Amino acid sequence: MRETMSSSICHMLISLLLFVSLQHTLAIKQSYIVYLGSHSFGSNPSLLDSESVTNSHYDLLGSYLGSTEKAKEAIFYSYNKYINGFAAILDEDEAKEIAKHPNVVSMFLSKRYELHTTRSWNFLGLETDRGFANVSVWKKSLGEDIIIGNLDTGVWPESKSFSDEGFGPIPKKWKGICQVAKGNPDKFYCNRKLIGAKYFSKGFQAHLGEAENVNFDSARDTAGHGTHTLSTAGGNFVAGANVFGFGNGTASGGSPKARVAAYKVCWNGCYDADILAGFEAAISDGVDVLSVSLGGRSPREFSESGISIGSFHAIANNIVVVASGGNSGPQISSIVNVEPWTITVAASTIDRDFTSYVILGNKKIYKGASLSELELPPNKSYPLISAVDAKFDNVPPAFASICKEGSLDPKKVKGKILVCLRGESARADKGVQASRVGAIGMILVNDEDSGNGVIADPHVLPATNVGFADGSAIFNYINRTKSPVAYISKVKTEVGVKNTPTIASFSSRGPNDLDGKLLKPDITAPGVSIIAAYTQANSPSEQPSDKRRTPFVTMSGTSMSCPHVAGIVGLVKSVHPDWSPAAIKSAIMTTATTKNNNGVEILDSSLEKATPFAYGAGHVQPNLAVDPGLVYDLNVTDYLNYLCGREYTSDQLKVFYGKPYTCPKSFSLADFNYPSISIYELDVWKSLNVTRTVTNVGPPSEYRVEIQQPPQFQVTVQPEILRFTHKGEKKEFKVTITMKPNSKYVTDFEFGKLIWTDGKHHVGTPITIKYTDL
Ligand SMILES: *[C@@H]1O[C@H](CO)[C@@H](O)[C@H](O)[C@H]1NC(C)=O
Ligand SMILES: *[C@@H]1O[C@H](CO)[C@@H](O)[C@H](O)[C@H]1NC(C)=O
Ligand SMILES: *[C@@H]1O[C@H](CO)[C@@H](O)[C@H](O)[C@H]1NC(C)=O
Ligand SMILES: *[C@@H]1O[C@H](CO)[C@@H](O)[C@H](O)[C@H]1NC(C)=O
Ligand SMILES: *[C@@H]1O[C@H](CO)[C@@H](O)[C@H](O)[C@H]1NC(C)=O
Ligand SMILES: *[C@@H]1O[C@H](CO)[C@@H](O)[C@H](O)[C@H]1NC(C)=O
Repeated sequence: MRETMSSSICHMLISLLLFVSLQHTLAIKQSYIVYLGSHSFGSNPSLLDSESVTNSHYDLLGSYLGSTEKAKEAIFYSYNKYINGFAAILDEDEAKEIAKHPNVVSMFLSKRYELHTTRSWNFLGLETDRGFANVSVWKKSLGEDIIIGNLDTGVWPESKSFSDEGFGPIPKKWKGICQVAKGNPDKFYCNRKLIGAKYFSKGFQAHLGEAENVNFDSARDTAGHGTHTLSTAGGNFVAGANVFGFGNGTASGGSPKARVAAYKVCWNGCYDADILAGFEAAISDGVDVLSVSLGGRSPREFSESGISIGSFHAIANNIVVVASGGNSGPQISSIVNVEPWTITVAASTIDRDFTSYVILGNKKIYKGASLSELELPPNKSYPLISAVDAKFDNVPPAFASICKEGSLDPKKVKGKILVCLRGESARADKGVQASRVGAIGMILVNDEDSGNGVIADPHVLPATNVGFADGSAIFNYINRTKSPVAYISKVKTEVGVKNTPTIASFSSRGPNDLDGKLLKPDITAPGVSIIAAYTQANSPSEQPSDKRRTPFVTMSGTSMSCPHVAGIVGLVKSVHPDWSPAAIKSAIMTTATTKNNNGVEILDSSLEKATPFAYGAGHVQPNLAVDPGLVYDLNVTDYLNYLCGREYTSDQLKVFYGKPYTCPKSFSLADFNYPSISIYELDVWKSLNVTRTVTNVGPPSEYRVEIQQPPQFQVTVQPEILRFTHKGEKKEFKVTITMKPNSKYVTDFEFGKLIWTDGKHHVGTPITIKYTDL
């Protein structure tokens, strides 16, 4: 999500709560998802089957509501292909009764989720300034035979990123459509690049009723988020892409020659009912990869989440699902979309800065980030005022400090550079407020949580974002100076920035709140000030008062890092069409790096060393991901066993599997063959054994183990050498973790790494350990 969306979401949540509490005395109707487990006909549904499934949904609900007609009114989605269930508007009493029906496996409220983006491919080693890099996987594949779907806010089909110039016929396996309203009033279209589009709004409408100025009958993206994410995953090469002339270069997705399809499930918020419908459509249409840049604020139990259930069915149909980890960092345990079957992506910076300096009257210079097209007249200083000093008398300082609408006195601000604190309201909105009260420039100062990570936004006035430490120095200068003055320099694009990537402050962090024994996030990818395609129905600052339009824009968020990985999945899958989703994930994770471009450990936004809780296995390296050497594979049975390990009953498992599934008598989560090892609450007096199995996907080879030891522990591996004589061969190994005899008692986390190497490949697996001295 763009951080900028959080304020409107807050407002909406607040108004939703108000709405709910006002209505509480009435029999309030809400939308529910009623889950009946998947179909016995599994992966080859026919039209006839689908119809009879829908009829059975009407019959089932009709038996409670009194008639099939009433059931037809209440049901707004019948999931009848892969997912067997329906979404319906019911009151609480009805819902309680229906939940008792023996065929009802699970029932939950359709909950709301939030939306969570040229140079980055160069930074990831696919291209150089002169063309493809020598080792670029783009020389092997541009994702030609891959179809990438996106669950998001739709797509702007006219964007050059979706031009089909040079594209051959649509792949025969594609079964999707280009959905348009009758008469197609908004002239939406698909082509041989954008091969499909569908929209799902009934879940949203069920919550909010009719909204003004929203066209529910089109997959057209009026927000910009979906166009940005889809073009990042699979957009075509577009030369001369830039934002106000900055960052000029060739924009493209990770799989530039893939076909793409948009599933519009987000309007002002994204609801379970629409998300499930989007997943089902994407599965039956035949996508290969799904990019999902949306999620909640905290992880939901898998059996009650549309994203978890939908993505499970996608994986079971061999579709790789990539999801954003959320923008609730740097708080620990804020990571979401933690399903073991999805690839969960954190966000980090690239080696490009859009730099704009603050020069204070005392000659001190601070580096900030901006994409303002406007600049202050040069060689002059301007009076500087902090927002708190510019507030109306009756406004609380905390409210004014973040430059909230209505808090600032134009008389105090006019002609000055205003200093605003980051947080709560949208970054670009603060610029709009500053401009409205007559500021000629704005310095946006990070709050403590945002640390030193700065974001280049297309502000409506000359403005720059500085880090927390620099911001404190600026506040100090204002405090100690009678007539403080400053200058904001013109934006300059810098590439080859050292010590990148660093983790974005907003990127959600582990450990995984739902299951400490499963490390999340899985990987980090570029997600700060990413340039990609944009809608022409919204301004680059997303502020209604901003009338500018640009074909490309920068966005920041795990929403932007997620489609980077989706694009890379397209490349890996195109080179290795026979690999399972888990093998592809493993390849991406085990080849990741924890070093930055200076060859030292990646730093967090706090400037401390980052940990696997910030980046999972590390920073994605697409050129290595196509040749990992070994993979940790997993299949549907393994995922079901994982859920058994979470003590799911066989009824609950039907939500995921339809058919009865009997859990194995003994299953240890520690042995779940995940490409990372996370030990939670290890008893210090005991050792712990973990097994893993690796599959050779390279030539015959001999691998030996290398261990980066967690400081307080002794990690050993048996056997220490794995010899593979052929491709596809599997070998098991055991990892034993023991506390060192003289360790200190701390209850914190420790990190290590296990690496299998044959000299050419380095198959890295992060280890995290939390232990308890109780
Ligand atoms: C890339 O390959 C070309 C031709 O094979 C070679 O001249 C050049 O040195 C290589 N560049 C790098 C960075 O390896
Ligand atoms: C961007 O680069 C292209 C070619 O490199 C050039 O033709 C174009 O004028 C540039 N645009 C801007 C706005 O700098
Ligand atoms: C501003 O100052 C710099 C150096 O002091 C000088 O090179 C430049 O020409 C000046 N610009 C203007 C518009 O006066
Ligand atoms: C500036 O001064 C005010 C009051 O004089 C104080 O409350 C505030 O903490 C100071 N800020 C900084 C950054 O020193
Ligand atoms: C999944 O893999 C396990 C071995 O790891 C195998 O025993 C099982 O049959 C596989 N299940 C499916 C559905 O392929
Ligand atoms: C782990 O394995 C070692 C050697 O293989 C064994 O001695 C030890 O008892 C095992 N520990 C546990 C907790 O099972």
